[in-house]
Amino acid sequence: MTRLLEGKSALVTGAGSGIGRATAIAMAREGARVTVADLAGPGAGDTVAAIRAAGGEAQAVVADVTRPHQVAAMVDAAVAAYGRLDCAHNNAGVAAGTLGAGGQRVGDIDQEVWDRMIAVNLTGVWLCMKHELAAMERTGGGAIVNTASIAGLVGLPGTHAYVAAKHGVVGLTKAAAIDHAEAGIRVNAICPGYIETPMIGDSMARRGERILARAAMRRLGQPEEIAEAVVWLCSDRSGFITGTTVTADGGYMAS
Ligand SMILES: NC(=O)c1ccc[n+]([C@@H]2O[C@H](COP(=O)([O-])OP(=O)(O)OC[C@H]3O[C@@H](n4cnc5c(N)ncnc54)[C@H](O)[C@@H]3O)[C@@H](O)[C@H]2O)c1
Repeated sequence: MTRLLEGKSALVTGAGSGIGRATAIAMAREGARVTVADLAGPGAGDTVAAIRAAGGEAQAVVADVTRPHQVAAMVDAAVAAYGRLDCAHNNAGVAAGTLGAGGQRVGDIDQEVWDRMIAVNLTGVWLCMKHELAAMERTGGGAIVNTASIAGLVGLPGTHAYVAAKHGVVGLTKAAAIDHAEAGIRVNAICPGYIETPMIGDSMARRGERILARAAMRRLGQPEEIAEAVVWLCSDRSGFITGTTVTADGGYMAS
């Protein structure tokens, strides 16, 4: 059977852990040569090692998605190694809990935390797309998937900066899809529900029972379950899908 991303060059940010790692591994399994980017070098290295151990092709790049020069160098590295850029998963993100601000309301949060949440979760996606779109336009097209969240579709308690950033990602995705459709580039967003990664430790500690009670499937998702949807959105099998969101949340948003 033909693999979904055979011969394509793919880039994944935040690929040293969780959803990004699972996507990078799934893309490689489907035949892509993958640039595994993360702020954390050891995590990116572990992902590359897992891909190579399975017979795939990948390189690690250390890049902070909030740093313009590092983002430009990251995209250049993908093109230099694999000749072009066909697919990108802009996935790096931080939760309020990671910054020690989980559970805070609008009046409680420090501006430093707000700025960092917007910088990584929203501006970082814009900055990556700025360079990825240019690379894709040079070779006639591509597909981008931005990681938003169910927090990009509804409000959630105690995490307003994250909610604001993820709503921004959904809007940015729609606008980019319109602007770049004629160049042959599709842009979509994946909206995961609660997925079992290091990121949700704080949310689960604060309100894990309520979270599981609302999800129709009564369980957390696995990173691999998000990765499958991202691979499909990057593949030619989703050729008429652009400017939209795909929600993968075990039925959380259904209630
Ligand atoms: N886990 C969930 O329940 C869930 C739900 C919805 C959306 N998401 C989103 O999925 C994405 C991945 O999250 P995850 O759950 O896999 O978390 P994770 O913490 O396991 O992985 C996040 C990765 O992003 C990297 N990262 C953080 N800041 C970065 C930066 N400035 N530049 C480059 N890399 C950076 C981290 O080093 C880490 O490897 C995030 O955008 C997150 O908001 C997660």
